[in-house]
Amino acid sequence: MSNPASPPAVDVLDERSPLTFPPGFLWGAATAAYQIEGAAAEGGRTPSIWDTFSHTPGRVVAGHTGDVACDHYHRLGPDVALMAELGLKSYRFSVSWPRVQPGGSGPANAEGLDFYRRLVDELLAHGIEPWLTLYHWDLPQPLEDAGGWPARDTAARFADYTTLVADALGDRVRYWTTLNEPWCSAFLGYGSGVHAPGRSDGADAVRAGHHLMLGHGLGVQALRAARPTAEVGVTVNLYPVTPASEAPADVDAARRIDGLANRFFLDPLLRGSYPADLMADLAEVTDFGHVRDGDLAVISTPLDLVGVNYYSRHVVAAPVEGAEPEAYWRAPSCWPGSEDVRFVTRGVPVTDMDWEIDAPGLVETLRRVHEEYTDLPLYVTENGSAFVDAVVDGRVDDVDRLAYFDAHLRAAHEAIEAGVPLRGYFAWSLMDNFEWAWGYTKRFGMIYVDYDSQVRIPKSSARWYAEVIRRNGLAAQ
Ligand code: FCB
Repeated sequence: MSNPASPPAVDVLDERSPLTFPPGFLWGAATAAYQIEGAAAEGGRTPSIWDTFSHTPGRVVAGHTGDVACDHYHRLGPDVALMAELGLKSYRFSVSWPRVQPGGSGPANAEGLDFYRRLVDELLAHGIEPWLTLYHWDLPQPLEDAGGWPARDTAARFADYTTLVADALGDRVRYWTTLNEPWCSAFLGYGSGVHAPGRSDGADAVRAGHHLMLGHGLGVQALRAARPTAEVGVTVNLYPVTPASEAPADVDAARRIDGLANRFFLDPLLRGSYPADLMADLAEVTDFGHVRDGDLAVISTPLDLVGVNYYSRHVVAAPVEGAEPEAYWRAPSCWPGSEDVRFVTRGVPVTDMDWEIDAPGLVETLRRVHEEYTDLPLYVTENGSAFVDAVVDGRVDDVDRLAYFDAHLRAAHEAIEAGVPLRGYFAWSLMDNFEWAWGYTKRFGMIYVDYDSQVRIPKSSARWYAEVIRRNGLAAQ
């Protein structure tokens, strides 16, 4: 019975009331080697597929390359000092394979390893937990010349490289990610070709995906052998995939894209098998003859944690005769066997990447991984947004990016309340950087980078994030 004298239910206020995260929640920010380091030809580093790709005319917007990037290689000290100012509890960075093992085989390059040793020591000296990603897309070029990820041997090379890094840094790095977003490496690198190495062959993309996961499994085993106490995981980029309508053909389109985008990786990694429906969808692309006995057992080697990168949702519909594919996915497609599925835009607000902003999708994604796949601790290892920034009187007031972070952190909290063992969150990105095929034209950073002067300016979102970390949660608004 309602009492008209009692105050109304305060849903709106409740929604915006302070939210506190669990004690010890790991607040961080992420970057990747090729996107920030620069010093492409220094200290014994040799080219990766991204050096070759970015130096190939027409591949990256405006011909941008990672040759200098944020010059982080020479600015490690001040950059870590900025992280400390933000109060980061953890920093997720990647090791450049061709910097520490030029050419991708043979002995370690001491000078390359030394850079990461100095970085890790600097982080530890500031009380920041280093989180090391072994592979954020920079395959040494000679390994691509020998066949790249579609070739099985690349997985074994990755395991050897892992041992080199684990031997050198395992005493001071606790958290390890083998691969970042194998979907992008496989399907953008070898399917659509919009990422390095820029090859376009559906069967190669599928083989690449398998060998990336095989490399991951062998890498986990190598890490465990070298450092039994390491906390080891993998980072996958996941999307909720929603049918544009309840029509069976749209629902089936969503099943197909979910198979390629999410279950292609989640099922082998966490269940030790490929989904039968996905294999059927790919029947005309490949016979999966590249999968050998025992591979799936290696791929599903037990982990300590799972990293989830979340940016947006896919809404899809059944093919329509004669319809143009949506621009971003234009042929050659990154969806082998499902090239005709239409990606639908809903008219909701988008970021500067044209990615729809969909914070509830983060709750769905985290709940799905937990409820359907694993009890392991989960970490959001990337989440963020590109927006056009303006420097006004030496300040960057990035209200849209701040709102994006705010909405997604509220979603992360909702997932925790729903029972997801979410243990940390890494903003993408610490600073503006080389956004792959978009070069420097897309800014994801909480810290603005002036690429001419290399001056860094913490944006409003950075100051806000520092406050979130200090409170271990979000203030009421
Ligand atoms: C992810 C990548 C990261 C960055 C963000 C925007 O797919 O892991 O390097 O490019 O997208």
